[in-house]
Amino acid sequence: MNFIKVDSYEKMSNLAADIIADVVKNKSNAVLGLATGSSPLGTYARLIEKYNRGELDFKEVTSVNLDEYVGLDGSNDQSYRYFMNKNLFQYININIEKTFVPNGCVEDLDAEGESYDKMIEDLGGTDIQLLGIGLDGHIGFNEPDEFFTKETHVVKLDESTIEANSRFFQSKDEVPKQAITMGMYSIMQAKKVLLIANGKNKKEIVEKAFFGPITPMVPASILQLHKDVTVIYSEN
Ligand code: F6R
Repeated sequence: MNFIKVDSYEKMSNLAADIIADVVKNKSNAVLGLATGSSPLGTYARLIEKYNRGELDFKEVTSVNLDEYVGLDGSNDQSYRYFMNKNLFQYININIEKTFVPNGCVEDLDAEGESYDKMIEDLGGTDIQLLGIGLDGHIGFNEPDEFFTKETHVVKLDESTIEANSRFFQSKDEVPKQAITMGMYSIMQAKKVLLIANGKNKKEIVEKAFFGPITPMVPASILQLHKDVTVIYSEN
């Protein structure tokens, strides 16, 4: 594992964007596994700058996102599809038809999970998976549990996750209680994993996840088993 500590969100974002940019430069049809939340916003802004400077071409790139709230469609400004369009896709030349986010609005969410995994498999897996980490150690929306879940699946969000994500909603009651998330198989098959985390409040969980025992009670700890993981942590 490559554990990098930096002293600012900006440095974390610059470094993360450089790593993703290298993947795209080396493989024009790269498959990028992407995340939402506050951690990757700076990374996406740097990628957009690189694109604007003509350093990157996303024309042949495919993206697959980790997760989506159940019940929110892409037109809802709290949905993760909306987030991706707003914060990245609209500014770059990625083919929107090749950007995938699990659909949390279908009736048969199990079938959606199955076809999402099959689609990732058919793409040959992701070349890089960008991840944030929740205060409870979740990656995607794989919450602490007695076991790791392999497939893309529906999860009930933990109270701490609902609380943390309520900052994006008018009130806590509006936060969906369920999400559909990529499971550990699709995350772990990424050729490279890049986890970014910032803030003093993430320090403890980052230490537990990467320097503690591997346990489904700290879902991110499974990444210790991956052969190419970079963690960038900024205390600020
Ligand atoms: C988002 C996701 C989540 C977030 C995590 C951290 O797609 O999968 O696991 O990465 O909740 O969120 P932030 O970055 O907002 O602290």
